[in-house]
Amino acid sequence: MRQPLAFTLVNFVVAGSALAASPAPALTPAFFAAHRQNFVAKLPPGAIAIVRTAPETNVETSPDPYRPDSDFWYLTGFGEPNAVAVIRPWAPEGERYILFVPPRDPEQETWNGWRAGVDGAKKDFGAEQAFPMDDFARKLPELILGAKSLYYLDGGDAPFRERLFPVWNGLNPNATVPRPMADAGPIVHELRLIKDATEMALVRRAAELSAEAHVAAMREVKPGRYEYNVKAAMVATCLNGGAARMAYPPIVGSGRNSVILHYEPADKRMDDGAMIVNDTACEYSMYAADVTRSYPVSGKFTADQRAIYEIVLAAQKAAIAAVKPGVPFHTMNAATVDVVVDGLLKLGILKGTREEIIKSGAQRKYYPHGSSHWVGMNVHDPGSYGLKDGVTGPERYRMAATALQPGMVFTVEPGIYIPEGSDTDKRWWNIGVRIEDEILVTATGGECLSCAAPREIADVEKAIAAGAAPAKR
Ligand code: GLY
Ligand code: MN
Ligand code: MN
Repeated sequence: MRQPLAFTLVNFVVAGSALAASPAPALTPAFFAAHRQNFVAKLPPGAIAIVRTAPETNVETSPDPYRPDSDFWYLTGFGEPNAVAVIRPWAPEGERYILFVPPRDPEQETWNGWRAGVDGAKKDFGAEQAFPMDDFARKLPELILGAKSLYYLDGGDAPFRERLFPVWNGLNPNATVPRPMADAGPIVHELRLIKDATEMALVRRAAELSAEAHVAAMREVKPGRYEYNVKAAMVATCLNGGAARMAYPPIVGSGRNSVILHYEPADKRMDDGAMIVNDTACEYSMYAADVTRSYPVSGKFTADQRAIYEIVLAAQKAAIAAVKPGVPFHTMNAATVDVVVDGLLKLGILKGTREEIIKSGAQRKYYPHGSSHWVGMNVHDPGSYGLKDGVTGPERYRMAATALQPGMVFTVEPGIYIPEGSDTDKRWWNIGVRIEDEILVTATGGECLSCAAPREIADVEKAIAAGAAPAKR
């Protein structure tokens, strides 16, 4: 029988790896039990939690293996679709952690893969009780009996939630007030914000593998090649390193595509003189990375490309230097904006004073996004940014108040993008630069997890020069 997902992706070594790789930790039932314990500690007395995984993906349209819902997996480690976890901390021992799973079924397994089944759910995933998923609706009323409140996670399966609510609400027809129920998302997401030692090792592994992929991608850069050659090198390195999938759709844009923040087609020939923005990273054992490098197709920065690149790099370094426990999340964004505005003023691309520009937000014409977001099991990991109600749009970059704590992981990704037709000297047109790395908050500052991917100009030029193979389609 196939090993359950929780135990499969362990301790591999990347053959011929160019960069040092951190060892991948073994994931044990204790890793997930600790997450459940922390979750239960945040629930009010008498609460029941019902947690659904993500619906099955369509094998005909999805090129990637099925991905369980991140919250479900965080609490259970169970990787098969069509499963539900029920957590009842107040119940007698032996009835507190129950998994509903697809039962063993030789015919179904022939088509869709091995199943742990109800025995595996108990033996390998720590369930005190386990039942076939088909029993869930029948057993639900007895499981919720006695619970004072319901905390649910639907895994993106809205019909499941819609079927659950009437059962919960209908339990006591004489009730005069609604029985409390709430989305458990904020509780789990708050826990996911702080990575434990095992999670840190997985995030680190995803970042390092992505850095290695960026080195491989740089070797593919040459006039006459295509954006997809760069993308293919990234994907090949991620998959060869044991990644089940990319952490998000790769973004490889050259020339006029380098100024598009989320450009996906990757079908353009890379022309001499153009810039490339390559925002691509691997997911490793359910943990995402998010890394961007930018460089010229020629392999040698022109003076203008260099001028823009140096501003972005200095902005990124200023933000990373500001990372330490206790500082509010908006600190990093503010640091990048100061450097970008000063740099664009110096080049004459922005006009006025730093204060006026920042007050009016004029820099957003060329730096339209924020510098940072949480990263974890998802590339844009959930978790509070400490925003007051009603704060939306670019205001949120300035207002994100969450205080950094050791174990948090986020990106620092300033960028400058000058589209053709901008109100600037033409020499700046179609220069796009984003430099993005992942930072782990430590006891004393911030550690860059992905900085093994070259980002100093001399190092980037050297990495591109290393791939002097003939042009290919
Ligand atoms: N890769 C998407 C982002 O950088 O946020
Ligand atoms: Mn990002
Ligand atoms: Mn990115």
